[in-house]
Amino acid sequence: MSINKLYRQQEKIACLTAYDASFARLIDQANVDMVLVGDSLGSVIQGKKDTLGVSMRDMLYHSECVRRVVNHSELMSDMPFLSYTTPKQALKNAGKFMRLGVDMVKLEGDKTLAPTIRCLVDNYIPVCAHIGLKPQQLRQLGDYYVHGKTSQCKQRILDDAKALAEAGASIILLECVEHEVAAEITEMLNVPTIGIGSGSACDGQILVLYDILGISPKIPPFSKNFLRESTSILEALQAYSSAVKEQQYP
Ligand code: KIV
Repeated sequence: MSINKLYRQQEKIACLTAYDASFARLIDQANVDMVLVGDSLGSVIQGKKDTLGVSMRDMLYHSECVRRVVNHSELMSDMPFLSYTTPKQALKNAGKFMRLGVDMVKLEGDKTLAPTIRCLVDNYIPVCAHIGLKPQQLRQLGDYYVHGKTSQCKQRILDDAKALAEAGASIILLECVEHEVAAEITEMLNVPTIGIGSGSACDGQILVLYDILGISPKIPPFSKNFLRESTSILEALQAYSSAVKEQQYP
């Protein structure tokens, strides 16, 4: 079922990352609503220390591998670092994902990204805006931390969410946002929020595939190993999807 329909029916949305055909095929069978070809592939596939070295070429290659086998879930791809510094550059690069058959692109940023999102949406490219903790800015910001703890930071995230939804983003992804702030944003918007480390009030959840299988070198505390209590990878993926939909995770 489409993300929009799930949102309208107030059903929780389960999303996972994938980078290759074998895992993506299993995810597609597991009642996961959306697959993200994330630039987290920099860490989990390429062994890099962050996502900054991931190129358009990498993202297109992995998106194409996943596109070939995903038939039920919606497919979203991350636009990598420095691939959307102007609306014109974003349009040119997002077009490359669209030509592969990707359903939506994801961009990290704050409200200054609004003109870029508007430009993509005006050109029929659906966009997810990723706010809160933005891994592409980690070298500048320092370490992972929860966003929205101070009133100033809370206001900034609320403003970002509102501006990017108004600019036409179809989904707002909230990474490591204080749970009450994520709940407030979810209540305020009329597009779905997908959370990662942002509490249970979001309309949906996303996790990194290798984290839920327990094979990432560094697993964030909010994630959960779903393989531990399953007898196969497919069963673990189904357990994740059911846990999100039945509100047992997070
Ligand atoms: O790249 C990625 O995997 C992501 C998720 C953490 C949401 O952006």
